Amino acid sequence: MTDIPYLNFYRKHDVSPVVQDISNLATHFQRRDSLYRFLGIPPAFVANRRVIEFGPGSGHNALFTASLRPSHYVLVDGNPRGVTETRQNLARHFGDDPSLTVIESTFEEFMTDERFDLVLAEGFLPHVSDPLALLRRLARFVAPGGVLVITTVSPASILSENLRRLIRTGIVAPNAEPAEQIATLLPVLGPHLATLKGMSRSHEDWLMDNIVQPVRHAKLLPIPQAIAALADEFDAYGLSPAIATDPRWYKDVHGDERGFNARVTACCERRVAALIDYRCDPADHDEATGRAIETECMALWTCMNAIETEDCVAPAIPALPILERLSRLLRPLLPKTAEALDEASACFAGHIPLSEMRLFPSLWGRGQQYLSLIRRPEWPR
Ligand SMILES: C[S@@+](CC[C@H](N)C(=O)[O-])C[C@H]1O[C@@H](n2cnc3c(N)ncnc32)[C@H](O)[C@@H]1O
Repeated sequence: MTDIPYLNFYRKHDVSPVVQDISNLATHFQRRDSLYRFLGIPPAFVANRRVIEFGPGSGHNALFTASLRPSHYVLVDGNPRGVTETRQNLARHFGDDPSLTVIESTFEEFMTDERFDLVLAEGFLPHVSDPLALLRRLARFVAPGGVLVITTVSPASILSENLRRLIRTGIVAPNAEPAEQIATLLPVLGPHLATLKGMSRSHEDWLMDNIVQPVRHAKLLPIPQAIAALADEFDAYGLSPAIATDPRWYKDVHGDERGFNARVTACCERRVAALIDYRCDPADHDEATGRAIETECMALWTCMNAIETEDCVAPAIPALPILERLSRLLRPLLPKTAEALDEASACFAGHIPLSEMRLFPSLWGRGQQYLSLIRRPEWPR
């Protein structure tokens, strides 16, 4: 078995914990269409284009992409169970369509000389061991003028998940069997998940994917880092959530360096607080504040990983000073969020039981963000 910890976890436990609720297909398709709009991808951009998707999971999101009728749609995943379920889902909706090709392969081993108008890489880049190397590898498959869609995760956007991972470590060991962990966690975190608007996965799948799955080998991938890694050949294009704006007159935007990447990066650094709590849309802060918030959230990620590495039930006491600094930074921008963090601290310190938290259960960050980028075409010289 290739040593890819993320993939090996799915393979070892024979799971593909990414099943979307598609009982109302119209709602599912409207959501995907909304995402594609934020990313600047109208249906006509997909129709009759060459599309490749890395990591389709069980193929629920692929149903929407396939419905837009690309000329050729290749789907690559290294998890045999996900590959089988993707084939079944596509066959159920599109029959034996020769334009759809599902390939079982690791991303690292997959090879083709074909270049694609749309390359999709959703839901795995942050969390692999070397996201930047994988990102550069997948970007090679984009044709000039084509679009790459990736997901990113920053320490701030994943703060709420990391705090729930610390709750896990306080009640069940990170190396306990997944079934035991999920049975322990469902009564505690199920009520938190029930507050999440727009949830379209089962709580069991979510827990498996976001809490039980180890992340000690993983690296995060904030938007500015992803943009910088591809800046030689790609320009940032669309974002979901759409936290970037660009008021420049298009006639001023020309030359070798058109500044798309710098603008999106600066907007993201001024909107870090917006990633921490999905219920809020705080005003821009300065870039130094953004970096300070990310630094504390990164410290929390490191602290959480250190506690998890002990592989035993352990209290989250080492996280308390970090949470105190973070709460102080956030108070002027997001007072309700800061209060929820104070409540989590009180719980970690043993002052209130888990079941008596009132503010933290509905605190969720913006998890993963979506970024589309255009591969620069060749201009006439
Ligand atoms: C979290 S799922 C995302 C599923 C879907 N794209 C979504 O966003 O809901 C990540 C998928 O990527 C696949 N994957 C992750 N790393 C991989 C690798 N190195 N090679 C092949 N497949 C990989 C997993 O098997 C899984 O199906």
